[in-house]
Amino acid sequence: MSKQSKYFLAGVMGWPVMHSRSPRIHNYWLELHGIEGHYAPIAVKPDGLEKALRALHPLGFTGVNLTIPLKEAALDVVDRVDPVARQIGAINCIVVHEDGLLEGFNYDAYGFIASLREADSHWKANAGPVVVLGAGGAARAVLAGLIQDGAREIRLVNRTKERATSLALEFGETINVYDWSQRAELLAGAAMLVNTTSMGMLGQPPLDIALDKLERNCLVADIVYVPLETDLLARARRTGNRTVDGLGMLLHQARPAFRHFFGVMPEVTPDVRRLIVSTL
Ligand code: ATR
Repeated sequence: MSKQSKYFLAGVMGWPVMHSRSPRIHNYWLELHGIEGHYAPIAVKPDGLEKALRALHPLGFTGVNLTIPLKEAALDVVDRVDPVARQIGAINCIVVHEDGLLEGFNYDAYGFIASLREADSHWKANAGPVVVLGAGGAARAVLAGLIQDGAREIRLVNRTKERATSLALEFGETINVYDWSQRAELLAGAAMLVNTTSMGMLGQPPLDIALDKLERNCLVADIVYVPLETDLLARARRTGNRTVDGLGMLLHQARPAFRHFFGVMPEVTPDVRRLIVSTL
């Protein structure tokens, strides 16, 4: 007989959802920790989101992750929203409480900062100016993480400047907005460069930015993880800069979600990283 009194169920909802790596990550950790349970991909259309979320409690699910295109819409469905998720404007993790209450979190900011700390345990957001490229959903999570971690100066640039300006209004005075044409010169004196745009992703053109002003000690991060080494990261590596790929953010955001769903805080080890790299 099993020593566990309950079979744990959780999953990821999205539309489409089969591309998600989350089932591989969570099911690997379930097996590693000897927990009886399963983490499933759940295909849910946006117009079925509310019904699907309300079904979680009667079905006995402990929670779900959310992916595109459900992350923003979930804000209007759940009963309670964590302040970080509210600031990012999207939910990527829902916890089902014992009484059925649904609480929304967003661990993308946490995952981003944790992936930087994994690359450099002493890394701090206040080490110097940070250049952030992009002003979409991913940028919101990166900015929330940087600000929470104490960033003092963020240089934000986006092809469509108005989107960056409205993010700066929302996120506060740490953020200074520049023109897209200034992106290369903004690297002078920067302690970190982060790409949050879709440039460099498989099927997209590479990010077009000159790196001649990049300081040797500038950490270069890309939230893209397919390919694992984008053209930006390859060029930064060749100039001797430290780089952080986007897979770390994906792996690290899964840790607190796993703890909510299954009661154990798992670790991002070379083994789980290798497992996911093998699927890219
Ligand atoms: P996500 O939620 O994944 O961040 P998004 O909201 O579509 O996706 O944002 C994509 C980001 O990549 C935006 O900052 C976008 O710039 P715009 O706001 O000007 O659209 C940026 N991006 C996409 N294609 C780009 C390109 N060819 N050149 C520069 N930036 C680009």
